[in-house]
Amino acid sequence: MKKLQAPRGTLDVLPPDGRRRLALAGIADEVLGRAGYEPFETPVFEDTEVFARGVGESTDIVQKEMFTFEDKAGRSLTLRPEATAGICRAYVEHGMHKLPQPVKVWEAGPFFRHEAPQAGRFRQFTQIDAEAIGSDDPSLDAELILLFDEILERAGTGPRRLRLSSLGTPETRAEYVEELKRFLRAREDELSEEVRSRIDQNPLRAFDADHPGTQAVMKDAPLLLDRLAPDDAEHFTAVRELLDAAGLGYEIDPTLVRGLDYYTRTVFEVESDRLGAQAALGGGGRYDGLIEELGGPPTPGVGWAAGVERILMAAGEAERDGGIDVFVAGTGRDAFVLVRQLRGSGLRAQMEQAGRSLKGQMKQADRLGARWTVILGDEIEVKDMDSGAQQRAGSVDEVVRMVGA
Ligand code: HAM
Repeated sequence: MKKLQAPRGTLDVLPPDGRRRLALAGIADEVLGRAGYEPFETPVFEDTEVFARGVGESTDIVQKEMFTFEDKAGRSLTLRPEATAGICRAYVEHGMHKLPQPVKVWEAGPFFRHEAPQAGRFRQFTQIDAEAIGSDDPSLDAELILLFDEILERAGTGPRRLRLSSLGTPETRAEYVEELKRFLRAREDELSEEVRSRIDQNPLRAFDADHPGTQAVMKDAPLLLDRLAPDDAEHFTAVRELLDAAGLGYEIDPTLVRGLDYYTRTVFEVESDRLGAQAALGGGGRYDGLIEELGGPPTPGVGWAAGVERILMAAGEAERDGGIDVFVAGTGRDAFVLVRQLRGSGLRAQMEQAGRSLKGQMKQADRLGARWTVILGDEIEVKDMDSGAQQRAGSVDEVVRMVGA
C-alpha cells in the first residue's frame, strides 16, 4: 500500500507546537486589540481575479505560485497567497468605507504559495496579518510597525533588523525605473551578463547582484528614495519621526523591494538574525491604490503580515510547559468523577487512562510535571510532588481543598 504523507511543503502541527501557535495568536490579539484592531476572517479561497488585480499580474506570486483551480461551474478560484487583497475585497463588498475610518482589522490563518520548499519556506504557511484601511495618516504606518515589533518582542524572536523605505507613487516609480534603465544601459559593459540581459524586465534586480562589477556600478545608481514627490517625502519623514519618537531603531534601505505590486509610499521588512536564507519574519507597507484597483472608492490603506512558522523558529524551543496541577493515580468511576471535579474548580487534572501499574502511574505523573498526585486505593492519599510528602485525605472534597491552594 502507498505510504501516505502530508503534501510537499506542508506541515503537521504536533504538540507542543499547537499551544505555541495559540499563544502567539493570543499575543497578537492582545497587542493589536489594545490599538483597536478587530479580528477579521475572509475565505481561504477567492475569485482568482482578486489576486490577479490585487497582488499584480507581473508578480512571481501571481505568475508562478498560485494554487488555482476551477469549481464545478467553471469559475477560476485560487487558494489565497496573502491576506490583503481579500480583506480589501471584503472592505469594498461590505461598503466598509461608510464606517468611521480607519477600519482596523487583523486576520490569522493558512496561506498558500507554490514555492520550492526549504527551511522556513512552505507551500502552506500561517500568517498573522494586520491592516488599517481608510486613512493615509503616517501615524498608522508607524503604529503598525511598532505593534509588529512588540508582538515579535513578546514572542521572544530575539535580535532582528527593521528595514524601511518609501516607494512613492506608481507614477514616480515608473519614471524612476526608466531613469534606472537609462543609467544601466549607459554602463552596460560593466554589468554581469544576467543583469544586462534583464535591464528591460527587472532593472531593480541589479541592486541585489553579487557580481563585483555590477555592485561597483550600483554605488552610483540613482535611488527612488531621492526621487520622491514632495508630499510622499514628507509622509516618509513623518513616519520616521514617529518611529524615532518611539525609540524604535530601523535601517533605511533604499533598495528594499517587496514581492507584491500594490505598495505605495511606506514599505518595510523585519529580518531575524537567527534565521538562515528565509529570514524575513514579516513585512508590509502602504497600498493607497489597491481598494480602487478592486473596484472600490479611492481609499488608502497600510498593513503587514508576519510568518508564524518563522517567528516560532526564531523564538526557539518553548520553555517547558509548567505541567499539570493534579494527576489522579486511579481508574474507574471514582477517578473519573474526581478529575471532573478538579477540572471544574479550574485545575489542570488528568487520570490514568492507559492501564499502567501503580509504579507506571507515578512515573506518568512525573512525566506530566504534576504538582500533586492523588492515589486512589482503599484510602485516598495526596502526594506533594515537590516535597515528596504524602498525606491521607478523608474525602474527595478534602482532596479538592488540599490541592486547590
Ligand atoms: P509577504 O512579504 O509576501 O507579505 O509575506 C509576509 C510574511 O509571510 C513573510 O515575511 C514570511 O514571514 C511569511 N511567508 C511568506 N511566504 C512564505 C512561505 N512560502 N513560507 C513561510 N512563510 C512565508 C504579504 O503577504 C503582504 N500581504 C503583507 C502586507 C499586509 N502588506 C500590506 N498588508
